Amino acid sequence: MAASSRVNRASSSVASRREFLQQASLAALAGSVFPWANPSDVSAAFPLANDRAVVGCIGVGDRWRGGIGPNVMAFGDVTAVCDVDANNVGRAADQVKKTQEKRGVNREVSTHEDYRAILDRKDIDVVTIVTPDHWHSKIAIEALKAGKDVYCEKPLTLTINEGKQIISVLKDSKRVFQVGTQQRSEMGNKDVPQFFLTAVALAHAGRLGKIQKVTCAIGAAPTSGELPKAEVPKGLNWNLWLGQAPVTDYVSGPVPERGYAQTRCHYEFRWWYEYSGGKMTDWGAHHVDIAQWAMGLDNTGPVSIEGTATHPCEMKGGVPQQTNRYNVAEKFHVKCVFANGAELHIVDTHPEFDNGILIEGSDARLFVNRGKITGKPLEDLKTNPLPEEVFAKLYKGKKPGNHMGNFFECLKDRTQPISDVYTHHRAMTTCHLANIAIRLGRKIEWNPETEHIVNDAEAAQWEGREQRKGFEIVV
Ligand SMILES: NC(=O)c1ccc[n+]([C@@H]2O[C@H](COP(=O)([O-])OP(=O)(O)OC[C@H]3O[C@@H](n4cnc5c(N)ncnc54)[C@H](O)[C@@H]3O)[C@@H](O)[C@H]2O)c1
Repeated sequence: MAASSRVNRASSSVASRREFLQQASLAALAGSVFPWANPSDVSAAFPLANDRAVVGCIGVGDRWRGGIGPNVMAFGDVTAVCDVDANNVGRAADQVKKTQEKRGVNREVSTHEDYRAILDRKDIDVVTIVTPDHWHSKIAIEALKAGKDVYCEKPLTLTINEGKQIISVLKDSKRVFQVGTQQRSEMGNKDVPQFFLTAVALAHAGRLGKIQKVTCAIGAAPTSGELPKAEVPKGLNWNLWLGQAPVTDYVSGPVPERGYAQTRCHYEFRWWYEYSGGKMTDWGAHHVDIAQWAMGLDNTGPVSIEGTATHPCEMKGGVPQQTNRYNVAEKFHVKCVFANGAELHIVDTHPEFDNGILIEGSDARLFVNRGKITGKPLEDLKTNPLPEEVFAKLYKGKKPGNHMGNFFECLKDRTQPISDVYTHHRAMTTCHLANIAIRLGRKIEWNPETEHIVNDAEAAQWEGREQRKGFEIVV
């Protein structure tokens, strides 16, 4: 199952699969096939008025600047921004003021280093959480307890236990919570308005037959050399940034094409198990989520998980043996088997595609990624469209098209949005289990009913992790 042994495999079935993946998406599907082919502008339902939700933004780095910040300002009014890096918080405050002034909103925008200042504010209804992964759960739980509705970026959790903790608080809170897996709402073209939603709808309608195997390719993770100790950049509160993770030196290396210096910090935190789970959780949060949804297994989990991986540093008992180099799996192939026999494979790359989801059923196959959806079930829609109810049921009776818009619609009717915590926790559990299996280098068994690893006490300890004193997550 090692990636290298798969790359050079050549066969006629591979050639035909390549053809299948190269089919152009259909040009004539819009309109009759997709009931929302021309979705109304959801933000029109949220005019500039006193009833717009008041928003506080926690974590305002890369993703916030280019995505969540502008998106949330289309629906609500931002009045506070918070970041443990003073440079980012200052920049975000300027961005908010400029954007809102253009719309005639002249709100004061306060700046904060400690998110609790935002949670204490009674005038703030909604928070966005766009911090690194190791902070998501703690801030989300405290926000729910403070009575805020929450939009939190994926991957929601660092461990399986964190997901259970969020659910235990959300259940009693009457709060609305959207996870930032926008593939559930967006990514399409004029012909097929939502690629992923359409794939899930086709699978649920039985157009592929019985789903037997789904493969998610999510890309290999970058590696680094040994990174030298460096001075903490001016304005960054390194202790607060580290949060629940162990105290360690700030390190800094070269700047790869991605544009951020190789550090443990901004953007590059993804490549350290201390703060994230590598590609397995970064992209797994998107594709594994869609895979389990399509399989109709989004409220359960696999029963066995096994795989192989290469790590950029030596691992012993699942623990990286070198301190200051990227440590998440570079290449991997994990097989998860569900109780009904269906298999979910999570790979860095597939011989026919680098990023995307291949769904194989007893009758047909379907490929989907952010750029296209291909396969016979899609073509068949021309002559045999899906009933509107299939999409309506999938999207909980609302119009898809804008993930943030879906959150704001749900704020009005107080329902849970399309990326609900419950199913996201299940997808993340699969990703975390995949990481536990490759870190320990052995097959693990999972009971999706009790939500525990079975017959392996050592592996079961990895369902949670020790949190630094003062930064524990308390429910
Ligand atoms: N949905 C998507 O497609 C998508 C895309 C990119 C990123 N993301 C997610 O968004 C999150 C942020 O990623 P990014 O690339 O913007 O990272 P980033 O490092 O650029 O930004 C994170 C920001 O959070 C700040 N921060 C850290 N701890 C904080 C705390 N306790 N309180 C307040 N601020 C804190 C950091 O200083 C930084 O400015 C990640 O979880 C990532 O997975 C999602």
